[in-house]
Amino acid sequence: MDHRMRRGLAPLLLLFIKYVTAFIPGADGPVSAAQGLEGGAATLACPSAPDQPADEMMLLVWYKDNAPVYSYDARIGSSWSNEFFNSSGRVSVDLHRQPTTLTVSRLREDDEGLYHCRVDFLMTPTRNIGVNLSIVVVPSFPFFLDEMGNKVESKVGPYHEGDTLMLSCLVIGGRPPPRISWYSGGALVDASDGASEVPGVKENELYLPLTRDHSGPLTCRASNTELIAPVEASVEIELYLSPQNVSIHWVSGTDSEETLRAGEPAVVGCRAGGSHPAPTLAWWLDHRHLTQHSNQTWLNSSQTAVSYLQLTPSVGDHGATLSCIATNPAMEPERASRADVITLNVTYSPIVEVSKVGDGKMNEVVELDTLHLECEIKANPPVDKIEWYFNDSKIHGGGRWGDNTSAPSLVVEEAGRDLAGRYACAAGNSVGETRAHAVTISVLYKPECSRDGITLDQETLTCHIDSLPPPDAYFWHITPVGLETQQLTTGSALLPLSQIIGPLTEPLHVTCSAENGIATQGKPCERVISLKHLRPPQPQHCDLAFEDDEVQMRCIPVENATHYEVSVWRMSSSNTSLILAHRGAMGWGTGLALARGPGPWLVRGSLGQLRAGDEAGAAACNVYGCSTAVLLRPTDVLLYAASPPWWHFLLERDAFIAVGAVLLIAVFILSTYIAVAYSRRRCKPRPPMVQVLQLDDVAREYLQALEVKRLAASSVRSCSSGYSGGSLESEPPAVDRVAKPYYWDQPDVTHTLHRESAV
Ligand SMILES: *[C@@H]1O[C@H](CO)[C@@H](O)[C@H](O)[C@H]1NC(C)=O
Ligand SMILES: *[C@@H]1O[C@H](CO)[C@@H](O)[C@H](O)[C@H]1NC(C)=O
Ligand SMILES: *[C@@H]1O[C@H](CO)[C@@H](O)[C@H](O)[C@H]1NC(C)=O
Ligand SMILES: *[C@@H]1O[C@H](CO)[C@@H](O)[C@H](O)[C@H]1NC(C)=O
Ligand SMILES: *[C@@H]1O[C@H](CO)[C@@H](O)[C@H](O)[C@H]1NC(C)=O
Ligand SMILES: *[C@@H]1O[C@H](CO)[C@@H](O)[C@H](O)[C@H]1NC(C)=O
Ligand SMILES: *[C@@H]1O[C@H](CO)[C@@H](O)[C@H](O)[C@H]1NC(C)=O
Ligand SMILES: *[C@@H]1O[C@H](CO)[C@@H](O)[C@H](O)[C@H]1NC(C)=O
Ligand SMILES: *[C@@H]1O[C@H](CO)[C@@H](O)[C@H](O)[C@H]1NC(C)=O
Ligand SMILES: *[C@@H]1O[C@H](CO)[C@@H](O)[C@H](O)[C@H]1NC(C)=O
Repeated sequence: MDHRMRRGLAPLLLLFIKYVTAFIPGADGPVSAAQGLEGGAATLACPSAPDQPADEMMLLVWYKDNAPVYSYDARIGSSWSNEFFNSSGRVSVDLHRQPTTLTVSRLREDDEGLYHCRVDFLMTPTRNIGVNLSIVVVPSFPFFLDEMGNKVESKVGPYHEGDTLMLSCLVIGGRPPPRISWYSGGALVDASDGASEVPGVKENELYLPLTRDHSGPLTCRASNTELIAPVEASVEIELYLSPQNVSIHWVSGTDSEETLRAGEPAVVGCRAGGSHPAPTLAWWLDHRHLTQHSNQTWLNSSQTAVSYLQLTPSVGDHGATLSCIATNPAMEPERASRADVITLNVTYSPIVEVSKVGDGKMNEVVELDTLHLECEIKANPPVDKIEWYFNDSKIHGGGRWGDNTSAPSLVVEEAGRDLAGRYACAAGNSVGETRAHAVTISVLYKPECSRDGITLDQETLTCHIDSLPPPDAYFWHITPVGLETQQLTTGSALLPLSQIIGPLTEPLHVTCSAENGIATQGKPCERVISLKHLRPPQPQHCDLAFEDDEVQMRCIPVENATHYEVSVWRMSSSNTSLILAHRGAMGWGTGLALARGPGPWLVRGSLGQLRAGDEAGAAACNVYGCSTAVLLRPTDVLLYAASPPWWHFLLERDAFIAVGAVLLIAVFILSTYIAVAYSRRRCKPRPPMVQVLQLDDVAREYLQALEVKRLAASSVRSCSSGYSGGSLESEPPAVDRVAKPYYWDQPDVTHTLHRESAV
């Protein structure tokens, strides 16, 4: 066919198409649905290949609502399109593909309609294919209104968990009308949309009880086609959340079993998640708020708060609870907090202390009672080793302390005195070993007489007792020879002899025992004590003198003498013994002693009648008896001076009393005459006759000086004055002396050898 002929046929063909073809869906051919977005493109397909190979397509026509918009005549190879439909050239046809396609771009609302294509073949019947094209109009972006009808921008709140969120999502326009749905974090929470009061507007009103899961953004989606993704808008919910999980974990300073070591620092961490806004973390140890040594950081990426606490546990913290409390500061206190609690396991070297169990004081045990010591141990972990120490050396089993010396108690049934000393126990565990402070245990026992027994020191008796505790009372039994026993009680071990009543001149039988509150003493201390050595020394520097018409013994006093005694010893007529002829006291004139002032003075004793061959003795005495006597023998000169006058015999004869009386009358008459003239001369004493014995030069000089003074003084002294004033008082009763010759040692050879002649 030539080109011109084809041009001529085209209008005819158009007429034929226009009037002949009317498509009835279902009857003339199948209909499929297609969608196109307003402004987008839609491609309609039409299978145009003949069913039989020998056949061939003659004509292809596209109709919209039964009006042709495009045609192609294969016989002449010409195509035609409706100018209005193909305005701005938006329609294109691809005949080289199977199925052939009609593509319409820049779709308009009025493009919607029922399209169909008609394909005429050379041999086979005509084919009709329908496509029902709908044009989709996308709605506006969603926007939000709160319950008051106010527009909500990107954020709502704050809300708390459990609150109900009320929010409307609105969409304007859209064809077909869109569906509006609420999503929270990808999950559909509400799809119940509906028409609004305003025409052309759809809305979905959300009533959402808020839970922790709604903390993400809330999204509203509007969709009316599957050709494109739904339009959506999001709003942030400011949701205050209490901390959800708080957990404590050890960072350093613990071993694998999470135990701490007393005194060693450790770091513990606390993590709190789920809180909004960030929580504050507080540390508590039991009821103590730890405000120091901790820091807190907020990890934005995981929305967790982390706090690290530096903790140096002490022994007392064992078993304490450590809590980490996370509190949301934005919330009300009662529901803002959550805590994690752990119990501290603090290990430490044992703490040990020794204590005594049983009656009595803490550190005392009575001999033969039970000694029970207890080692009080506090340890974590439990101890695996116990040892006992006595006086700092380890106690081994099998000895005085029994077989088991690795037990917490140490028991000795009958405590001996050798158990006294320092006791300590030591305990060890995996952390270390500790030894307790030693406790000194005293073993108390009843009083016993010690080796020293009773001693006499100077004038005091001492009772030597071994006792623990020391005695609080001493009981004395003193028995002077031949006398009744005296009982005395003293608070101390000392008994001054002055407390003993009665003579001390004889040896004393003394016993003493003590009491210390534990028990009384069994066997007392016992001793016979002689007090002889307490007697004064022999008088020294004695002499015989004829003074004041009598023979006197004169001595210089000696120390510790309370009185002196003179005695006269005379040769027995029948044998060669010396017999006591006279005894008297010695004394010194107090007045004289005072007049002389300080310094030695003399004690004197009158000897009475002395004969040739007599011996005169002087002894110094005190409460313990008298010293041995110093014996002096008078010289002939002294005896002569002391001899009585020649008329002495007259006085001794009764017969001459009458003569004497006559003579006296005569003498009286004479004397009245002579008396006046001679009165003074009569008072003049005879010069003394002195016999000095046992004198050294100093004593002699002293005595001589004494004589000179005495002569000078005699003129003022009364003629009748004597020196015996004090001696009478101190003279012991004569009966006593006879009864107890013990005081008077018989003169012996030694003493007589010391006698010397008078000067
Ligand atoms: C539509 O018009 C353009 C130019 O205006 C043309 O190129 C195109 O081929 C026409 N489409 C059809 C199917 O004829
Ligand atoms: C074509 O689609 C529209 C809506 O999309 C519908 O109302 C109409 O009935 C359909 N026509 C046919 C023939 O299916
Ligand atoms: C806290 O809880 C959240 C979820 O509730 C979980 O994802 C997180 O791992 C938890 N954190 C810890 C430390 O347990
Ligand atoms: C915290 O993290 C969120 C996302 O998890 C981010 O949007 C925010 O900007 C971060 N804030 C800071 C201060 O880094
Ligand atoms: C917090 O304390 C821990 C342990 O003491 C330490 O390791 C960490 O560096 C501290 N962090 C800050 C931010 O100070
Ligand atoms: C504490 O730790 C010690 C040592 O690991 C263990 O023996 C002991 O049983 C622990 N105590 C408690 C109460 O957990
Ligand atoms: C000693 O006593 C302790 C505790 O009472 C006990 O565990 C231990 O086995 C005893 N040892 C011996 C050797 O009996
Ligand atoms: C132990 O020590 C005490 C003094 O602390 C001592 O008196 C005792 O004699 C000592 N015992 C032994 C057996 O060494
Ligand atoms: C006198 O007695 C005291 C005390 O008893 C004693 O110390 C002194 O030695 C005694 N003097 C003489 C000379 O015996
Ligand atoms: C010596 O004689 C006296 C009496 O003159 C007498 O008492 C005494 O016992 C006699 N002594 C001796 C040893 O015979």
